Amino acid sequence: MTSPDSIILHRPLDMHLHLRDGDMLRLVAPHSAATLAGAVIMPNLVPPVTSVEMLAAYRDRILAAAGPDAATFQPLMTLFFQHYTEAQLAAAQPQLFAVKLYPHGVTTNSESGIHSIDAAEPTLKLMEEMGIPLLVHGETTGFVLDREAEFLSIYERLAARFPRLRIVMEHITTAAAVALLDRHENLHATVTGHHLVITLDDVAGGLLQPHLFCKPIAKRPEDRAALLAAALAAHPKLMLGSDSAPHPQHAKECCGCAAGVYTAPLLLPRMAQLFAEHGALDNLQAFVSDNAIRIHGLTPPDKAITLVRQPWTVPAVYQDSTGLKVIPWEAGHELAWRIAP
Ligand code: NCD
Ligand code: ZN
Repeated sequence: MTSPDSIILHRPLDMHLHLRDGDMLRLVAPHSAATLAGAVIMPNLVPPVTSVEMLAAYRDRILAAAGPDAATFQPLMTLFFQHYTEAQLAAAQPQLFAVKLYPHGVTTNSESGIHSIDAAEPTLKLMEEMGIPLLVHGETTGFVLDREAEFLSIYERLAARFPRLRIVMEHITTAAAVALLDRHENLHATVTGHHLVITLDDVAGGLLQPHLFCKPIAKRPEDRAALLAAALAAHPKLMLGSDSAPHPQHAKECCGCAAGVYTAPLLLPRMAQLFAEHGALDNLQAFVSDNAIRIHGLTPPDKAITLVRQPWTVPAVYQDSTGLKVIPWEAGHELAWRIAP
């Protein structure tokens, strides 16, 4: 049901989520589990998730940390791309949603990412044959504003070379990436909430805002406009993937700020506010769930989340008893929408 003042979202999904491990996992996992029916869990732990044993153990730790809503939260697990044999992929497949490919050194914990796309082809071929989706952090190591644009030709090559491989361009940030969606049947994309709202000006146009610093870096107004238009129209190949990526406060507010924006606690309220501002609330269900369910054939638990137009102030900090502190996106700001109490 959608009215100008409330909306019920069925089976909301976050198709790109970092939950980390240990104390951080315990602090952040309940925020996503409380409001989502499932999430695609990124494998860039230290060390990365590269075996069925690691994947299964990580899934157990996530569910143990997820709190009271664990029963209605489905972690969709991923392996960190490396060269896998058919036997390794087959062993993981019952518990595996997808494999996430990171080029070497492009983002947090991507040191064991790949150096050569060509060398990745045997594993990609296996994934295509086995029906395992490929999720890609699509950036080169070129000039920071051009990294995604430079990667687009690699997406096109992969899409053409492996026509039955379902490829997801993760956290797209450019108008050119949006345009690519309509050129290759097997290319899909996630977009974050913050890339629908901010540009590079918000990160570095005034005083530097470390809590908005992430990879890929926010781009130009015309890029944001293209991403937003596609999201508001519920482009059928575009899915919400928060890329919520918590780092301790001390790792963000320092010389050498870690990349990643912590958005999980406010993800759905902020998206409801955005879609309502643009008169597009009717399309929010497709963007936060239906598209992903259709594209991937998912069966998340039947969970309904009601959002209402009521002011809510995002906490200034999330912290635990060990002294761990994480600053969320929009910290201390009032939002126009909240999760119904
Ligand atoms: C992510 C992280 O911190 O793990 N950081 C980020 O800036 N988005 C990794 C990623 O998705 O690039
Ligand atoms: Zn990410």
